[in-house]
Amino acid sequence: MVKLQDSITIRGNIIKNRIVMEPLYTFSFRGDNGSFYGKQHLEHYTRCAKGGVGLLIVQGTDVLGAVTSTEKWSEENTGVLKQIAENCHEYGVTVLLQLACKEQDINEMSVTEITKMQQDMMQAAVTADELGFNGVEFHFAHGFTLCKFLDASYNRRTDQYGGDIDNRARILTDIIPEIRKNTQDKFMLSVRMGESQPESRDGIEAAKTFEKAGVNLLNISFGMKPPILDVPEGFPCSKMTFSAGIIKREVNIPVIAVNQIRTEAQAQYLLKNGYADFIGIGRGILADTEFANHMLNGEPINKCHGCKRCLWFTDHTKCPARKSDMKD
Ligand SMILES: Cc1cc2nc3c(=O)[nH]c(=O)nc-3n(C[C@H](O)[C@H](O)[C@H](O)COP(=O)(O)O)c2cc1C
Repeated sequence: MVKLQDSITIRGNIIKNRIVMEPLYTFSFRGDNGSFYGKQHLEHYTRCAKGGVGLLIVQGTDVLGAVTSTEKWSEENTGVLKQIAENCHEYGVTVLLQLACKEQDINEMSVTEITKMQQDMMQAAVTADELGFNGVEFHFAHGFTLCKFLDASYNRRTDQYGGDIDNRARILTDIIPEIRKNTQDKFMLSVRMGESQPESRDGIEAAKTFEKAGVNLLNISFGMKPPILDVPEGFPCSKMTFSAGIIKREVNIPVIAVNQIRTEAQAQYLLKNGYADFIGIGRGILADTEFANHMLNGEPINKCHGCKRCLWFTDHTKCPARKSDMKD
């Protein structure tokens, strides 16, 4: 029976426990000299790594180097990212960088534009490997550009990037061999996606297609919309975590469940009953960077207040759960 404390090996990477820090874009952090990544990011992620998670996924980062940067992988950004990876390793944490693609209308993109995007995705993965990350996660969730390719109802393309699942997933699957050729053997590939794309059967097909193409981990959040599901009476967690179980049943690679997992009892329930291999924590870690240590040791957690709209979206200093150890 799997427990939170159990380690797991993925593509030769030993992950020391089953708690994952989910990607969380820290909207009010900025680097110096106009760079995107800066000192605040480094301190924040170092604190979170020290907090005991087994796997840490650094926030959505544009494949061109940083979400707001027009510059490709500026030295400031890569310097901070490299240091984040190093500090994670110092705390025995496996670390991935989440990669996202600029917002655009996928139904209007030319094949040349798509090919360019694929090259940028590949280059970003290679850069992450060079910076010391154990892998990358491609952001196919939350209605963003890659998610739109995958979604059977949104993607209206009639060429090789639309239609059946092989075509809708091609934006990534086509470039995996090239990523493998240019990264270390242990380099992990994760995909964040939803179980409903828009139907459950589409999500399952997509998960299987990614697995077959060599993806090592699936992080199940939501696609264009949150899943509409009936969960069994007494199921102690959110619908989204239940949807991870639907995918897990169909694949042989590890799956992360996420969304409003607040207590150790919920986390152990999901692992014990085979809904997931990992427990993904988002806002819980923003509220308590020691969340994982506390949960693993049965200690009290400084709880997220569950604000209607998380204040980290606008100004983390206003988060009502912040404690004095989170200075800036
Ligand atoms: C401030 C904030 C930033 C987020 N940034 C990202 C992101 O960069 N990439 C991503 O895939 N999800 C992002 N998310 C979603 C979280 O990873 C997570 O799925 C969500 O918060 C639900 O988990 P939770 O209930 O444990 O917080 C963000 C959420 C919040 C609150």
